[in-house]
Amino acid sequence: MTTLQTTTPLRLHHLHLCSSAPDALAAFYQELFELQPVSAPERLIALAGGERAVVIHQGESGGLAMAAYAARSPEELAQLRDRLAELVCDSGPEGEIFFAPGAFTVTDPQGRRLLFGVPRSGRQPDRLAARLQHTVFQTTELKTVVDFYVERIGFTISDEVVADEGTVATCFLRSDDEHHSLAFFQGSRNVWDHHCYETSCWNDIRDWGDRFARVRRGIFFGPGRHGPGNNLFFMVTDPDGNRVELSAELERVAADQAPGVWPHEEYTLNSWGRGWIRT
Ligand SMILES: [Fe+2]
Repeated sequence: MTTLQTTTPLRLHHLHLCSSAPDALAAFYQELFELQPVSAPERLIALAGGERAVVIHQGESGGLAMAAYAARSPEELAQLRDRLAELVCDSGPEGEIFFAPGAFTVTDPQGRRLLFGVPRSGRQPDRLAARLQHTVFQTTELKTVVDFYVERIGFTISDEVVADEGTVATCFLRSDDEHHSLAFFQGSRNVWDHHCYETSCWNDIRDWGDRFARVRRGIFFGPGRHGPGNNLFFMVTDPDGNRVELSAELERVAADQAPGVWPHEEYTLNSWGRGWIRT
C-alpha cells in the first residue's frame, strides 16, 4: 500500500486557529512562543518563529480552520497532488502565507481541512526548541475518519487504543517516521482536542514549564509519559482554552512496523499515573 511515510513524507508545519479575540490570542503566541508577525491577507494574523507558526482567523474560539502539512519538495508535493487528484481544492491566498504557490487543500468526511504545500523558506532553530509536531481531534465517527486518512490520504496507523468490548477508542496516525502527526479520539462531539510541540529533551520540558509558570499559566495535565508514542509531556491552555502540549522523546516508527494495541485505561494515556480520558 502507498503510504505518505514511504513515498511523500509530511510534517505538520502550521495551524489556522479561529478566535473571537484574535489579538489576545496572538499576544499569547508572540510572548510565550516567540512568534513574530508576518504579512498575511486582510483579516488574518500570521505569526512565525523558527519551527512553529500560526495563522489566526476571526471566528468562534476553539476551532481549527486548517492544519497545514509540509512536503519535502515541489516534486513530492506534485506526486501527492496527483495521487489525491479527485480530492484536491486550490488553497487560495490563505494557503500561501507560509507555503509556495501550488499548495492545495483536502477536506475530510466531517469537514476538517488539511493544507498541503512546500514551505517558502527553510526553518531556523528557535531559542527554546519546540517544533509544531502533531494535532488531535475528537470525532463521533472514528472508523470513517481513520479509513479516510489511511486509505485515501496515506497516513499509517502507529497505535490504537482499544476498549474492553473491542471497539477502537483512539487512533494515532503517522505521515513520516514520527509516531504520530495526527490522531483521533472517539467521543460524543466533533471538536479540536489539542496541538503539540516537540522539544529536544527533558530539560526543554523543564524550561517550558518555567516559562509558563512566569505568567502563571499552570499545567492542567502532566507531566507524564504517554504509552503510545512513549513521549514525555505536559499540557497548558492558551487564552482561548485551546489545549497546548509540550513533548519530548516522541518515538520513531519504521515503515513496516505493525500497529500496536493498547488498553483503554489511565496508564495508557499517562504511564506515570493520572490520565485524562475524554468522553
Ligand atoms: Fe498529543
